[in-house]
Amino acid sequence: MPHPSPAAFIEATGLIKHLGGHLVLNGASLRLLEGETLAVLGRSGDGKSVLLKHLAGLMMPESGSVRIDGDEIVGVDERRLGPVRRKFGLLFQNGALFDSFNVEENVAFPLLEQGLRDSGEIRRRVRVSLEAVGMVDHLMKMPIHLSGGQRKRVALARAIIAQPHCLLYDEPTAGLDPIATANIDRLIRDFQRRFRVTSLVITHDLQSVRRIADRIAFLCAGRIHFIGSPDAFFATEDPMMRQFLDGRADEPEAS
Ligand SMILES: Nc1ncnc2c1ncn2[C@@H]1O[C@H](COP(=O)(O)OP(=O)(O)OP(=O)(O)O)[C@@H](O)[C@H]1O
Ligand SMILES: [Mg+2]
Repeated sequence: MPHPSPAAFIEATGLIKHLGGHLVLNGASLRLLEGETLAVLGRSGDGKSVLLKHLAGLMMPESGSVRIDGDEIVGVDERRLGPVRRKFGLLFQNGALFDSFNVEENVAFPLLEQGLRDSGEIRRRVRVSLEAVGMVDHLMKMPIHLSGGQRKRVALARAIIAQPHCLLYDEPTAGLDPIATANIDRLIRDFQRRFRVTSLVITHDLQSVRRIADRIAFLCAGRIHFIGSPDAFFATEDPMMRQFLDGRADEPEAS
């Protein structure tokens, strides 16, 4: 009997999107499987962050389909997207904490947004989330007084507090030292194991990829050029992927 293929939490097909007069997504298709951690790689400016926003219903394509948990979200009324977005915890590329809120208020934000008003319960859940990222001693600090790595950890605590089904991370370790990077990678793995979350991680860090990814996708020219196992990715002979992996600059155009 054939194996049933693993269920996809997200199934995006044929996404087309222009931004600023450029074709950014040119038929991108991707399946994010239940429970997996998928790393998405690609060159700077090739559309990784734009793709991530499409997967969480924050940006809509001109054509194509995005199914979340089986439900189509393209073309759906804005009011019906709220419950879909709540399935996600998002870590944006710039870490974006609210500067005028302290750590506790930042992390509590998704709960308030969901209408939770019990301040005792909110405080308890904020502590649990901050404990998970080792930041519980910094409750009252303002973001400006945190290091870059601490800010990322607070943003992670905020991303997990509402116990989302799926975490989308946009460059969670960019700009961090190797130890801070290893710590964030461990947290990503921990969340996957402890809360059974499905995750997609955009990253440029090949060492991180080896630590966290169950599968790897390579985005190029607005499409998913490759998706497969880390072994297949690192052993690829595809010239474009080899150039990326070996960190070679573009060849000058032949004249
Ligand atoms: N809101 C926008 N308006 C106009 N152009 C945009 C917008 N958002 C993204 N773009 C353009 O879309 C392209 C892809 O951007 P995106 O941020 O997805 O790249 P990326 O792959 O995430 O790059 P990086 O690795 O540097 O983060 C870029 O050319 C960018 O300038
Ligand atoms: Mg980006």
